[in-house]
Amino acid sequence: MHLTSSAVRLVLAVLLWAVMLCEALTLAAAAATRVLPLEKRHQKVAEVRPALLKYQHVRAGLEGALGSSAGGANFAPAVQRASAAAVFRAGAVEPLHGELLPLGEYYARLGVDGQEIGVQIDTGSANLAFAVSRCLDCPRSDGIIRLSDWNATRVPCSDSSVCLSGTCSALCGACSRRNEACCSFLDPESCGMILSYADGSYVFGALHQGPVSLPGAGLSVRKAFYTAILYDSPTFERRNVGGIWGLAFQEAACSPSCPKPLFDIMFEEGVVARNIFSICLSDTGGALILGAEADTRFRRGPYSWVRYLPRSLVPYYAASVKEFRVGPNGSNLRSYADPVVFDSGTTLMALGGEAFTKVIQEIKSVVCAADAHLCHSRFWSEAPSCTLLSDAAYRSFPDITIRFDSDATLNISRDTYLIRVELAGELYYCLGLEVLSPTGALVVIGDLVLRRFTTVFNRENSSIGFAPSVPGCGQ
Ligand SMILES: *[C@@H]1O[C@H](CO)[C@@H](O)[C@H](O)[C@H]1NC(C)=O
Ligand SMILES: *[C@@H]1O[C@H](CO)[C@@H](O)[C@H](O)[C@H]1NC(C)=O
Ligand SMILES: *[C@@H]1O[C@H](CO)[C@@H](O)[C@H](O)[C@H]1NC(C)=O
Ligand SMILES: *[C@@H]1O[C@H](CO)[C@@H](O)[C@H](O)[C@H]1NC(C)=O
Repeated sequence: MHLTSSAVRLVLAVLLWAVMLCEALTLAAAAATRVLPLEKRHQKVAEVRPALLKYQHVRAGLEGALGSSAGGANFAPAVQRASAAAVFRAGAVEPLHGELLPLGEYYARLGVDGQEIGVQIDTGSANLAFAVSRCLDCPRSDGIIRLSDWNATRVPCSDSSVCLSGTCSALCGACSRRNEACCSFLDPESCGMILSYADGSYVFGALHQGPVSLPGAGLSVRKAFYTAILYDSPTFERRNVGGIWGLAFQEAACSPSCPKPLFDIMFEEGVVARNIFSICLSDTGGALILGAEADTRFRRGPYSWVRYLPRSLVPYYAASVKEFRVGPNGSNLRSYADPVVFDSGTTLMALGGEAFTKVIQEIKSVVCAADAHLCHSRFWSEAPSCTLLSDAAYRSFPDITIRFDSDATLNISRDTYLIRVELAGELYYCLGLEVLSPTGALVVIGDLVLRRFTTVFNRENSSIGFAPSVPGCGQ
């Protein structure tokens, strides 16, 4: 989710420009923001190829190879069981950093080889990856890890227990002779990883296995898998963030090998007591609660529960919708907005093209009655964009309610989907709804909404619980 921060910066730049020019009260972001994707969800390896064409110097290294076919995802789990018990902790709290604006993401501090690096918390993907000193283009200032013994932690390309056979493609540096596994583009001795995200960003790296820790929570894991990033797209991560921690299921980790995700290993090594984690996000930081449901320090009232779709069907956290309404009298938009994905790696709330159009139509039908001027604004067409609003106009914005199959209802109030930005003494409201691309009947609930609801990812009974969060997440 990164592009978000550029999107937001662009919006702010546009705001400043507009304020300087004493423009009309209503303004919209530049057309360029429309193409800014927000989500950090996993994509198949084959989707890296078009993106690569834009990056000449990597492309040069791949010349001639681009014509052949890339390996698709292969969902074979291929990791040995991690060995038993280390430190036993229940409900350890890992502090999170970051915010919705201007960074557009939340991150934890990961410890590796006596150093630390910020990793974005992403429930929409399943790989752990961070920049290492061998990386060709990773910005040093955002954090970098110098691995002390590259050969000791690397997963060799020949290790067919992890490095899946038959995965070699044009994007790999070599093919393992034994089993046609994908060897790293920039380090052919290593098992190759090519991570690709729905925002168009990607990573080339080498798979490693070794100790990592979460110093904030006081937890450590002896044999975690991680991708040492050797090259990434310029949009891969944001300021102060050098990597990503995917908290989805192993089926979403196949890139092209499918290393067991960090949280699975934490549970199997006994580092966390239960196969549950919770996320509380606030305006400045938050908390990742590992091994437990977040308690009343983090939430107000009981959880509402919803079952997520089987991981064999969707390898991240998605739930079926019964009703999706804008305002109390809006029509049921379910056919455009099902399922709903809980994704901490998305900044705003992203809707498929049709759902976006319908939601905007319904909001406008209510809001235009309060302020006709708003009706004609570009505010609606080019999210995320910002405007000044009278109190009456603000109060006319309807709530969005999502009722899941379990009847649990998520109430997304105007206060949640309109982001307040103060600028030059004026309060602007920015629309936190975005078009999701590619389109489809899908809604992605990102940090915009998650920062109002403390969310439990209960992998013991395949359900998600949400409850209004305590502002500041008890910190
Ligand atoms: C690491 O392995 C490579 C090739 O396998 C070898 O050339 C290199 O000398 C090794 N480095 C160390 C420090 O052992
Ligand atoms: C899952 O377990 C929690 C207790 O940890 C429970 O409150 C919740 O109702 C369960 N979810 C479902 C869908 O039954
Ligand atoms: C919704 O419908 C009810 C009954 O028809 C009406 O009284 C109410 O004003 C409507 N609310 C809105 C926000 O339009
Ligand atoms: C949604 O939340 C807002 C603000 O907290 C509240 O005013 C409204 O009544 C809620 N709506 C529903 C349907 O719960």
